[in-house]
Amino acid sequence: MTSAENYIKNRLSDRQQTGSYRTLKPENKLIDFCSNDYLGFARSTTLKGKIDEEIKNHFNLNGSTGSRLISGNLNYTEKLEQEMAVLFSSEAGLLFNSGYDANVGLLSSLPRRGDTIITDELIHASVIDGARLSHANRYTFKHNDLAGLEEKLQNAKGVIYVVIESVYSMDGDTPPLTEILLLAEKYNANLIVDEAHAVGLYQTGIVPQSGLQDRVFARIVTFGKALGCHGAIVLGSNLLREYLINFARSFIYTTAAPFHQLACIKVACSFLSNSAEQIAALRQNIDLFKQTVKILVESPYLLIESDSSIQCILLKSNQKAIETATHLQDNGFDIRAIMSPTVPQGSERIRICIHSFNTADQITQLANDINHLLNE
Ligand SMILES: Cc1ncc(COP(=O)(O)O)c(C=O)c1O
Repeated sequence: MTSAENYIKNRLSDRQQTGSYRTLKPENKLIDFCSNDYLGFARSTTLKGKIDEEIKNHFNLNGSTGSRLISGNLNYTEKLEQEMAVLFSSEAGLLFNSGYDANVGLLSSLPRRGDTIITDELIHASVIDGARLSHANRYTFKHNDLAGLEEKLQNAKGVIYVVIESVYSMDGDTPPLTEILLLAEKYNANLIVDEAHAVGLYQTGIVPQSGLQDRVFARIVTFGKALGCHGAIVLGSNLLREYLINFARSFIYTTAAPFHQLACIKVACSFLSNSAEQIAALRQNIDLFKQTVKILVESPYLLIESDSSIQCILLKSNQKAIETATHLQDNGFDIRAIMSPTVPQGSERIRICIHSFNTADQITQLANDINHLLNE
């Protein structure tokens, strides 16, 4: 065995011992309570028909043939970016191939050595990875804790960036956005909001719904969650867009998205503007789940307070999370355990994603099964 193979074997065996070994699961026929397809766009045959039509009406190469800065920039791409900027109430926007690329590109290129990035402790891994590459000073504050954020702001140096999510991907809760913005403004910091899990349920996002778009420095919208396709856009000023075109390495050094991806984004976004019915159904389903699931106060488990599609029950160990998810899967529900190190040790959980297309029966049955499993 080579030294590299030896290292690999040891790391994997550590994972097995801590119950955190990751494996790819095959497709299944269980009821979807784990995907990010909150509004059912990814499975919509109507949407697929419209995407097919859009593709038929625009002849384009199968692949984009190169990066945006060489041969991969279509007129369609730039027009789409302008349309997205209007839809999401922003001066400008720059498409990235994924949300991961968008956060890594933004956070790695903008803050410099001597600057400061302050993030909520539960910020998504893509922000952490981007921030690591920036060489800026990095600090986290306790989840949604304004006093903790202010303490970090008081000690921050250089240009300051505060990064939060408007719906946290692993907890489903929402930060006190206005208060965080006021603090950022007090300390002349630039607020960046990742709206990956907010777009859809909160239409074009919580930032524009709250009328704060002109005071937030940048927003990240991803198209792989409620919009049911793939890709992301960084929203901000024209100046920021020009900067990212020049310096964001995850934008510069990669093949541009193919036409098919762009067409999906365009059509899905036009669908979003007409999806009041799906949004209302989703809201109703979330309310039904929250009313039906009951975790007893004396139980060691906890339902995290959340109004979004993401509902989590803290089970506090990988073993309990896997055991609970497996029980629910055996009952027909596709529920996944979220284990450490994806979440901090002690906060292992099951993460239930509610969709517009889940039926009332499915939700009631699932909630009752959870009640039975965790309160016995
Ligand atoms: C908050 C947040 N930001 C960014 C991303 C990355 O987006 P994408 O899946 O498009 O790479 C995710 C996805 O997991 C996310 O949850």
